[in-house]
Amino acid sequence: MAERIVLNTDIRKGTINRNIYGHFAEHLGRCIYEGIWVGEDSPIPNTKGIRNDVVEALKEMKIPVLRWPGGCFADEYHWKDGIGPSEERKRMINTHWGGAVENNHFGTHEFMRLCAMLECEPYINGNVGSGTVQEMSEWVEYLTFNGVSPMAELRQKNGQEEAWSVAYFGVGNENWGCGGNMRPEYYADLYRQYQTYVRNYGDNKIHRIACGANSDDYNWTEVLMREATRFMDSLTLHYYTLPTSDWTNKGAATGYGTDEYFNTLKKALFMDELVTRHSVIMDKYDPDKRVGLIVDEWGTWYDVEPGTNPGFLYQQNTIRDALVAGLTLNIFHKHSDRVRMANIAQTVNVLQAVILTEGEKMLLTPTYHVFNMYKIHQDAELLDLTVDSPLYSYEGVEIPEVSASASVTAEGVIHVSLCNLNHAAPAVLPLELRGLAGQSAAVSGTTLAGSSIDAHNTFGQPEAVVPQPFTAFQLEGDTLTVELPPMSVTVLAITPG
Ligand code: AHR
Repeated sequence: MAERIVLNTDIRKGTINRNIYGHFAEHLGRCIYEGIWVGEDSPIPNTKGIRNDVVEALKEMKIPVLRWPGGCFADEYHWKDGIGPSEERKRMINTHWGGAVENNHFGTHEFMRLCAMLECEPYINGNVGSGTVQEMSEWVEYLTFNGVSPMAELRQKNGQEEAWSVAYFGVGNENWGCGGNMRPEYYADLYRQYQTYVRNYGDNKIHRIACGANSDDYNWTEVLMREATRFMDSLTLHYYTLPTSDWTNKGAATGYGTDEYFNTLKKALFMDELVTRHSVIMDKYDPDKRVGLIVDEWGTWYDVEPGTNPGFLYQQNTIRDALVAGLTLNIFHKHSDRVRMANIAQTVNVLQAVILTEGEKMLLTPTYHVFNMYKIHQDAELLDLTVDSPLYSYEGVEIPEVSASASVTAEGVIHVSLCNLNHAAPAVLPLELRGLAGQSAAVSGTTLAGSSIDAHNTFGQPEAVVPQPFTAFQLEGDTLTVELPPMSVTVLAITPG
């Protein structure tokens, strides 16, 4: 078969939910504390304790939804510890993550303020593993009830007169592991019980999210869908990409060789199979696709940076991460009939972060640039596209060299996102633009490429990897031939007419 991309500009396949571009911020390492929250007395410029530089960068990237407070932390978090005068809030040890002191200065009010500043939807994850039905139900009442009630009064006493609006609420996290080591049958029953008391107050309609599977645990999805489909609006999936198969020796974030680079991309591509197979199970119980699949933790997971707290999960971010982000987002687009939200782990200073900070300094990672370049796909209509990709091989193993996806905006501008995974060679291939009915097209592009296999930004050189104009294309008739640089993520804008 000829190597090419065929784009049917006149075949639309549904909306790409903007929430696929969601993020996840946990009380873990320096994500919340320092990365987002510095406190009002900090010399770092802030608004009511929240860093201005980070808010500005996340807004620019159009962050649509933010998941909080965990992760594993969610099933140890007792929300009442994080309300009221901050100097009176409990100090405790974050036993799960690095033994850091948790002073609870960032709690419900601060999170809701952060979401308001970011103009994004809050996605709150409740505690099933070590919390009670009453605790969860009261959190929802505190957040969303406007009438006369003990929790509404408590919220008002703490300075928030009006109830907030909260669309997304998760009932437990990783309850097959850190959230209680439960069997799916047991969790399914608990889910049914807990969600009963996650009430809709007034106009606030909560999208109830059940804890889903770890990676390829298809039995978990089967049991949850069999036992609880009618009680949920979405089911989650967690999948992390490691360069190796050994959690005690995952591989470094920088300074790796071609083998780890290649293996990471190969393992990231596995997301397609995972989403496909979990969706097949969901289709069996929910053929109308009412229930969404939310991939609320995904991204790369490496060994921590040398000399940092192993429990803080701080890692650098290179062009390899940019490619993982680009190809994964392309996969989510393809499955946007079922995947309604995804949350990369985690927003700042933890795992595949879009932002790193060091005191008052902040840098944008290659992953940030991909999210910023791809934001034009948010809420756009997915277009029909097929890739017959050249193969990228390493030591006898082959993967597709090119990943691609396309969408069209309400204004009719077509965007094509293209990743060339090959670390050594450009990818040259024709992109056939079908369905333009003889119209010509204006084309422009932006690319993010690596000059070395672990190209990354540092606080000394924060702009080593940044998007550049892309001009290596030629349009003849309805065929656009592109030459994608090695290790690159490119977005084309095609305006017909
Ligand atoms: O993102 C880090 C951790 O990974 C989360 O706390 C947990 O849910 C997952 O295992």
